[in-house]
Amino acid sequence: SSAEKEGHDWFMRKEIFEQPRAVADSLLGRRTATGQLQLDEMRLSDQELRDIDKIIIIAAGTSFYAGMVAKYAIEHWTRIPVEVELSSEFRYRDPILDYSTLVVAISQSGETADTLQAIRHARTQRSKVLAICNTNGSTIPRESDAVIYTHAGPEIGVASTKGFLTQLVACYLLALYLAQVKGTRFGDEITEVVTQLEAIPAQIESVLDGADSVYALARSHASARSVLFLGRHAGYPVALEGALKLKEIAYLHAEGFAAGELKHGPIALIEPGIPVFCVVPPQGRDQLHDKMLSGIQEVRARGARTICLAEEGDERIEPYADHLIRLPRVPVLLQPLVAVVPLQLFACELASLLGHDVDQPRNLAKSVTVE
Ligand code: G6P
Repeated sequence: SSAEKEGHDWFMRKEIFEQPRAVADSLLGRRTATGQLQLDEMRLSDQELRDIDKIIIIAAGTSFYAGMVAKYAIEHWTRIPVEVELSSEFRYRDPILDYSTLVVAISQSGETADTLQAIRHARTQRSKVLAICNTNGSTIPRESDAVIYTHAGPEIGVASTKGFLTQLVACYLLALYLAQVKGTRFGDEITEVVTQLEAIPAQIESVLDGADSVYALARSHASARSVLFLGRHAGYPVALEGALKLKEIAYLHAEGFAAGELKHGPIALIEPGIPVFCVVPPQGRDQLHDKMLSGIQEVRARGARTICLAEEGDERIEPYADHLIRLPRVPVLLQPLVAVVPLQLFACELASLLGHDVDQPRNLAKSVTVE
């Protein structure tokens, strides 16, 4: 009913708008009085965590893209090597695992069959398994050594939104916690990132305040046949997730690419008028921003219509953006938390305009419990 949806037409839209609260809830109670990070159901001792020399993240669908972001964060903050793999691939390829490997299973539902089978296999190899999950008491956390629960609240829309954002939060917390345990980073640096995370809910709110202009953009793309998404670094999984959302609910051909791969194929797809979403990294001392700008110029020179998501104050992007969506200023590793939101709004609105059932897309299930 509309009451359950709190006045929204779809659960998905309601869940998109709940994200500031969901992110805040997922951050709640994670700091001790002395400023140390604490994770309630970690259950692995500091010594067990210090013995870990490799992390393998396994997940499916949107959760897999959270895992891709986690790799960037964990390796940067802890220097522990991280692999990310689809659960369905991991299971059947005889992966190298032992007691010093931590397998991190990310699953909103905690019931995805491939992810469950994958952790069962990992445990037979004596690896430690940590679940990042939104559903208390579901099978995956029950069969894991430790768990970080996300606090998104029940997610009804089949296409994951607040589930994804809170998975990202849990991944950042895990990365920072490992850094704290390993002592690879000074405490004040960890505290600084946690403080930046605590500012995110208000920043998501400001992105949501701009929903109407994203909806107008969706209206002007109601007859698009194909939409591309470009990103790099932590913006690459955001591009993949933006494309997945369009496939799932708008039934539109959509693909995400790493911007640096353009010349290796994707640029051949560019034809006049094709919409290309570009997730622009923050302006920093690294070369990410420059590299992204040159990719954007290349697709635009071939007639693409560029829709750029770029931080406030980024003026260099202006000449190359046919449409500009402003993002709050956040460090590159945290940018997915704000950058994915306009892409969710765009997909939700476009699917709605096309007359599709946004909450129950054809052929899809909320959780895939059979292979
Ligand atoms: C299904 C859902 C997706 C979800 C994926 C993984 O495909 O439609 O939204 O990302 O399963 O689900 P999980 O519950 O394991 O995160």
